[in-house]
Amino acid sequence: MHTSPESAAQTSTTPLTVTTQAMQSFAQAADPRLGEVMALLVKHLHAFVAESRLTKEEWLRGLEFLTASAAITSEERNEFSLFSDIMGISSMVDVVSQPAGGTPSSVLGPFHNHDSLQRPNGSDLTDGQAGERVWFHGRVLDVNGQPIAHAQLDFWQNADNGLYPAQDPAQDPHNLRCKMVCEADGSFHLLTIHPHPYTVPTDGPVGALLAASRRNIWRPAHYHVIVSAPGYVGLVTELFPAGSEYLDDDTVFGVRPGLIVPFEPCLDAAVAQRFGLDKPFCEVRFDFCLTQEH
Ligand code: BEZ
Ligand code: FE
Repeated sequence: MHTSPESAAQTSTTPLTVTTQAMQSFAQAADPRLGEVMALLVKHLHAFVAESRLTKEEWLRGLEFLTASAAITSEERNEFSLFSDIMGISSMVDVVSQPAGGTPSSVLGPFHNHDSLQRPNGSDLTDGQAGERVWFHGRVLDVNGQPIAHAQLDFWQNADNGLYPAQDPAQDPHNLRCKMVCEADGSFHLLTIHPHPYTVPTDGPVGALLAASRRNIWRPAHYHVIVSAPGYVGLVTELFPAGSEYLDDDTVFGVRPGLIVPFEPCLDAAVAQRFGLDKPFCEVRFDFCLTQEH
């Protein structure tokens, strides 16, 4: 059949046609929220392809990146989660889903262990290892400043060599981590060591991308803490020592001003005696604030 140039132009496929069709293809999703999220994802990914004028070679490179990420991903190592972190997606999700009034949340990272040991409040996690001692204490409060009784903390950090147990066979898997139930007045305390800056894992496609982009691979020193209590929104967060290197260039964008805390010399003789400390040590005090679930 003969098609005039005019009608061919009318029926030719434009970027808008493709985007509209692909968005509409999710309109019948059984879960309306799935339909909404997928249609928006299509809309923004198509806009990215159009604006960047992505070539076929570049698109193939992207697919190769995802394939290589899948190949290196295992139970212990999730390259997609690291990709989300270094792209700032994990932090964006934190920031847009943050309930008003609570302590800011921050990235979970790959080194959390669900099977952390439960230890009594006031535990000493240092177990004779190297590192400047830090007395970490504070309370868990609601948005009105009232204590939340018996909230649970889940705490983990890296050792004095900068490594987490999963990266260092010489460490006990439970080194410098624990779950701990706070007191009825919301208070908690423990003895640990000063954390250290360290690099995100760089032996996979994400590491190659960071290198090709000439990006920093370091994170500032931090403690990880998950705080939970029945009836409250669970908080996954981090605390960063004031003055730590890389605070202004965290490769996963996890630093929030409200999470930078001073680690100050502690002169409290009762604390020194309680933990048997004969060298100078630091203290960090932080109150976590949880928002109520609705
Ligand atoms: C971490 O804090 O342990 C971490 C966070 C994101 C990516 C890699 C490591
Ligand atoms: Fe970490």
